[in-house]
Amino acid sequence: MVFVVPVQARYAASYRECLDVVAREQRYLAQIEALPLEKIEGFLKDSVATDAAQFFAVDGDRVVGWADVFPAWAHAVSHCGTLGMGVAPAYRGQGLGKRLLQACIEKAWQKGLTRITLEARADNTAAIALYEKFGFQHEALMRNAMRFGGQYFSAVQMSLLREQGPLRA
Ligand SMILES: CC(C)(COP(=O)(O)OP(=O)(O)OC[C@H]1O[C@@H](n2cnc3c(N)ncnc32)[C@H](O)[C@@H]1OP(=O)(O)O)[C@@H](O)C(=O)NCCC(=O)NCCS
Repeated sequence: MVFVVPVQARYAASYRECLDVVAREQRYLAQIEALPLEKIEGFLKDSVATDAAQFFAVDGDRVVGWADVFPAWAHAVSHCGTLGMGVAPAYRGQGLGKRLLQACIEKAWQKGLTRITLEARADNTAAIALYEKFGFQHEALMRNAMRFGGQYFSAVQMSLLREQGPLRA
């Protein structure tokens, strides 16, 4: 049984492992490996302290997915948050992405955010379909926005506004 739980510092190593596996696919995330554990530990400590919109999917003690929305710091854009997420390959297609995203969006709205943005590689059809399902709208095509192994890929920028109403998953 997989549970979706709010961020907890004790998941740092397992979260790092999950992030690393997805990053090393070199297809979906901008980073191609996870940051060192000390950095991740510090990051999660801050998240816990700020009650961040950050959730993990956990199977036993193992993190198998994550989603987070972090707000921009500057005053005029502090209502905006950026979404990041991923699910371990063996756990995809089982509804975890939907559960993680739902929890994260609800929390982001609770915390007062009114706009969530994201960027996804334009050929990441699974992620884009998931975001569209939740009402995210396409805003821009960012040409050559990502580069893997010397090859350029365009990315889509999408956003969800709180005023759009209830979740539509
Ligand atoms: C995108 C991702 C998080 C989706 O997680 P998931 O747990 O597989 O998604 P779910 O099982 O909850 O599926 C949710 C919806 O996504 C879409 N989807 C999922 N897999 C899909 C696929 N292979 N092809 C097309 N659509 C797909 C469907 O709309 C699905 O809804 P449905 O089941 O009602 O049809 C996951 O594929 C992933 O981790 N990918 C690699 C990392 C990544 O792309 N992160 C986002 C970067 S922007």
